[in-house]
Amino acid sequence: MTDDETNTERWQAVDRYIADTLIGRDAALDAAVAASDAAGLPQIAVAPNQGKLLHLLALVRGAKRILEIGTLGGYSTIWLARALPAGGRLITLEADETHARVARSNIERAGLGVDVEVRLGPALETLPRLAAEGAGPFDLTFIDADKPNIPAYFEWSLKLAAPGGLIVVDNVIRDGAVADASSTDASVLGVRRLNEMLRDEPRVTATTIQTVGSKGYDGFTIALVTGDSSRLGGTR
Ligand SMILES: C[S@@+](CC[C@H](N)C(=O)[O-])C[C@H]1O[C@@H](n2cnc3c(N)ncnc32)[C@H](O)[C@@H]1O
Repeated sequence: MTDDETNTERWQAVDRYIADTLIGRDAALDAAVAASDAAGLPQIAVAPNQGKLLHLLALVRGAKRILEIGTLGGYSTIWLARALPAGGRLITLEADETHARVARSNIERAGLGVDVEVRLGPALETLPRLAAEGAGPFDLTFIDADKPNIPAYFEWSLKLAAPGGLIVVDNVIRDGAVADASSTDASVLGVRRLNEMLRDEPRVTATTIQTVGSKGYDGFTIALVTGDSSRLGGTR
């Protein structure tokens, strides 16, 4: 067995241990995964411990309005929506018709008791419509769709963010390729551009955390929309 295979097995075992201990069986989430698999959706949803992190971030933020870019089968959507109070609202954007249909059914089965809307269409077409409708401002936005468009999604998320809002971006380490300045991979370039935008944008302060686990070696960025660079005390 190679070192990489040993690492992957260990990461998967630890993720299973964390999920079994801190999350356990969850009828709605388990059914969402099963229905997504049965419909042939790719197995690229966030891991259970990552879904719970999104849930906790929304709770800590006291989020009442959440935007998600990239729904898949609605797994992360369910985690996020469960953090909403009565009267809360979540809008999730999905370009693929089958993914959107499976997600709607998974979300309905989960019986969330809050307003969750799956909007079908390319996110870069839906986002300007949301802005024109006056949807938002959003207390938390989760960016998890096509990676080359991350910079554009970040710009829209910032436009639509509430003061004090969080913007979370998934898959920003890409097996370490993010540190490769010579990369020509469009997804890596998307993430590197995001980091430059975060560096140069005075209205946000952000960090990125590397992760290992059942989803491999990757990571996420969390940006806080301060809206006021003077409160950052000279740090980014
Ligand atoms: C990584 S999956 C989302 C996983 C989901 N957030 C979860 O953790 O359960 C990415 C999703 O983004 C969708 N997607 C890709 N390009 C898109 C676009 N331009 N607009 C909207 N959705 C897009 C894909 O069809 C896919 O369902």
